Amino acid sequence: MPKLTPYSLFRKKPIDNDQIADNDLARVIGMTTLIFYGVGGIVGTGLFSITGIAISEHAGPAVILSFLMGAVACSFIGLCYSELASMVTVSGSSYSYTYIAFGEFIAWIVGWSLVLEYAVGAAAVAVSWSKYILSTLNGFGIYPDVRLISSPFETYKLADGSVGHGYLNLFSTFIIILLTFVLMRGIKESLRINNIVVFIKIFVILTMIGFGAFYIDFHNYHPFVIPNTGEFGHYGFSGIMQAAGMIIFAYIGFDSVSSAAQEIKNPSKNIPRAILIIIAVCAVIYVSFACVIVGLVYYKDLIGDAAPVATAINHIPFAWLQPLVKLSVICGYVPILFLLLIGQTRIFYTLSKDGLIPAFFSKTHPKFKTPWSSHIFFMIVICLLSAFFPISILSSMCSIGALTAFVFVCTSVIVLRRTHRNYPRKFKAPGGDIIPIIATLTSLILMYSLNSLTWVMLLGWLAIGIVVYFCYGFKHSKLSNFK
Ligand code: ALA
Repeated sequence: MPKLTPYSLFRKKPIDNDQIADNDLARVIGMTTLIFYGVGGIVGTGLFSITGIAISEHAGPAVILSFLMGAVACSFIGLCYSELASMVTVSGSSYSYTYIAFGEFIAWIVGWSLVLEYAVGAAAVAVSWSKYILSTLNGFGIYPDVRLISSPFETYKLADGSVGHGYLNLFSTFIIILLTFVLMRGIKESLRINNIVVFIKIFVILTMIGFGAFYIDFHNYHPFVIPNTGEFGHYGFSGIMQAAGMIIFAYIGFDSVSSAAQEIKNPSKNIPRAILIIIAVCAVIYVSFACVIVGLVYYKDLIGDAAPVATAINHIPFAWLQPLVKLSVICGYVPILFLLLIGQTRIFYTLSKDGLIPAFFSKTHPKFKTPWSSHIFFMIVICLLSAFFPISILSSMCSIGALTAFVFVCTSVIVLRRTHRNYPRKFKAPGGDIIPIIATLTSLILMYSLNSLTWVMLLGWLAIGIVVYFCYGFKHSKLSNFK
């Protein structure tokens, strides 16, 4: 057994972007594709599903403030990511940055948390997709057995009036299997389809904002902040905060732009610019959309509504807009799943190259040059998650996993400015350490606002990660002297 010393736990990777020499992934992604990839991969479930819960149960019309808070928080965090992405241009994103700043053990914790962000996030998105498919089929008069599109945690009223539990969600597993095989064939082909779908999705969302603005009923904005009911998170200021914590899910994905750094052209210049543009575009879309949706629908009418967008279009008297929006919502989930599946497999590719998990995970396909073994592994894991867990649990786990990584990434900026003072950065967040400090505190506050079940599950997940590290990674790490 290797000897455990404080040094070995915090052994650091050098910052010479050494993996570039070892790059067997194809460098095919340019700036425009990157922005489409980011925006298309971010705008989705958060807006199409979680907004309804955030409005009706937590913030009411003041959800606009929750979206603004999310935008401000992500801008600060995005500035930190941009600075690091302009210095470190290997795959792995948050994991690679913390390996250099804090050493292996913290990097492992971050890499392990990213599984929550990407794999569990992908499961949440697949579940949301399945619910929109179900609602569309119902619209055509087709009624599949809901128990086969629901997890055992969900209850449904059956035709005879009895209440039943779901069995498993088969639709969500279908989309994961399909997209995994598309991605395994190559990132370039996948991204070409991606650009078209993203264009349609954003165009339809903007059309809905544009038309919807003319039908806003200003009475729906009153009262703007609904008085708190006496329960934490149920309207009032705490409700706005809890909605912001949930809505962070809607912004998740901007960080994964840098996780595929080895496949991006001119990464030190393109990644920071792309991250900031992507956050700005998403913030404008979300805040405008939130203004329109709470103006069109009274907040109480969204209680229990898993498809708030579909409800909102009913308030716009253009029949042709409805199928267009539903179709674009359904197709619009594909780029998000692309981004999360690519992010997850590239993180595992990097962990494996570093020896922290078995070499199996960095095997690339001889023809397609994609990490096929990671794709297959996560296809199975994500299918199981999406089949047996509801979106509420999956999305909260995804948010807390991402926020954990954000805390370490933002503090890495402060550390690296001292340990690598003269290392070239093509971008530096302005205002000294103010931005990384605010970004860290904001991430911690948003984590605090999430419920206790989410915290228990995070701690359980991290405990498993620590066991895996000491049983495998610590000994097999590339930085280990014990092999
Ligand atoms: N931001 C992504 C979404 O809302 C995860 O679906």
